[in-house]
Amino acid sequence: MKHNIYFDNAATTKVDPAVLSAMLPYFSDEYGNASSLHYAGLNNRVVVDRSQAKIADFLGCDKSEVYFTSGATESDNMAILGVTEAINNGSNKAKRHVITTKIEHDAILEPCRELEKMGVKVTYLTPNQDGLVTAEKVKAAIEPETVLVSIMYVNNEIGTILPIGEIGRMITQLNSQRENKIYFHTDATQALNFLDCNVEALKVDLLSLSGHKIYGPKGIGAIYIRRGTPFKPITFGGHQQAGVRPGTYNVPAVAGLAEAVNSLSDKKTIDQQNDKIKELRDYIIKQVLLRITGSIVTGTKEERSPNNASFVFEGVKGEDIVLSLSEKGLAVSTGSACSSGSLDPSHVLLALGLKPELAHGSLRVSLSKYNTENEAKVFVEELEETVSQLRKIMNPTPL
Ligand SMILES: Cc1ncc(COP(=O)(O)O)c(C=O)c1O
Repeated sequence: MKHNIYFDNAATTKVDPAVLSAMLPYFSDEYGNASSLHYAGLNNRVVVDRSQAKIADFLGCDKSEVYFTSGATESDNMAILGVTEAINNGSNKAKRHVITTKIEHDAILEPCRELEKMGVKVTYLTPNQDGLVTAEKVKAAIEPETVLVSIMYVNNEIGTILPIGEIGRMITQLNSQRENKIYFHTDATQALNFLDCNVEALKVDLLSLSGHKIYGPKGIGAIYIRRGTPFKPITFGGHQQAGVRPGTYNVPAVAGLAEAVNSLSDKKTIDQQNDKIKELRDYIIKQVLLRITGSIVTGTKEERSPNNASFVFEGVKGEDIVLSLSEKGLAVSTGSACSSGSLDPSHVLLALGLKPELAHGSLRVSLSKYNTENEAKVFVEELEETVSQLRKIMNPTPL
């Protein structure tokens, strides 16, 4: 019998029914363009304004500092390129320095590589073996020309929580003694469901988020840009969103994103939900280590996202585990870049210092509020059997 167990929620989540019903009216009932002057447009403009206000409420900022995007990839590109290109230190454009980490999502790493092509210096910090980058480490990398620091809040592969508040406070303190301000961005895509994302507490100038990681729709995200932050748009067009991010408002998706974010504001419910998710995570980690020899947990034990259990297995390939489990109706993922057609081991695991042969055996289990104890039990049993079968295929007993 095929199962139907979805443990790949860091890739995307199921849309919450409340989110779906918040979106539905704006497809074919109230479909006006939010920028139109007539009644049909104004109704939708109100929805956009209210949605901005809900997100601003959650982030602890002004609604004019929230811009809608197509997702975290676009938000990250805007943060990296938009801020760095807006800052021109004197006449020498090359004299700008950006700091990030080796474990960021490609949505950060790729625009950073583009900056390098333009002559901007980029430092990619190496985390410790748990995937942590301390505020001291960031401080030590800061140079007189540093204009931007971008560090993710929660790593999408190994679930490590990075000390964004501490780094933010350190940068604020340094800024009080510097002539040229260092702007601080965090990619909070994987953090919203679990952690405080108040921009004042974190002391960030920019923050990226995405709808489809928080039980919202795909193709919508947002970026917080603190008022006064230098910013050069990366797309050009109409005057929507003050020209910072032009394009017709995707009102159903905007309404859905706002509903998804708003439902994270009920702290008591969210804490209970996350305690349950954490229990499932801890059960899976414990059982896997107990039952599968040659299994290692990647990332850290304490500073870990409640929904992430990530492993490497000696002597098996992550892709083979994912495909075998998928045949049985279980969805998980591997850290390898198989989607790009290459079977390179994950850049995150290599940055932790794992040997490539071991990094090839990576598996990420990411849970949601919809998962159950029984699913976790079935998963562990199927994983144990799958790893053992794959090892037999890889190392057949000599006749
Ligand atoms: C940490 C992180 N940043 C950025 C992204 C990109 O998000 P989106 O799919 O909304 O473009 C993801 C998605 O996997 C992510 O996990």
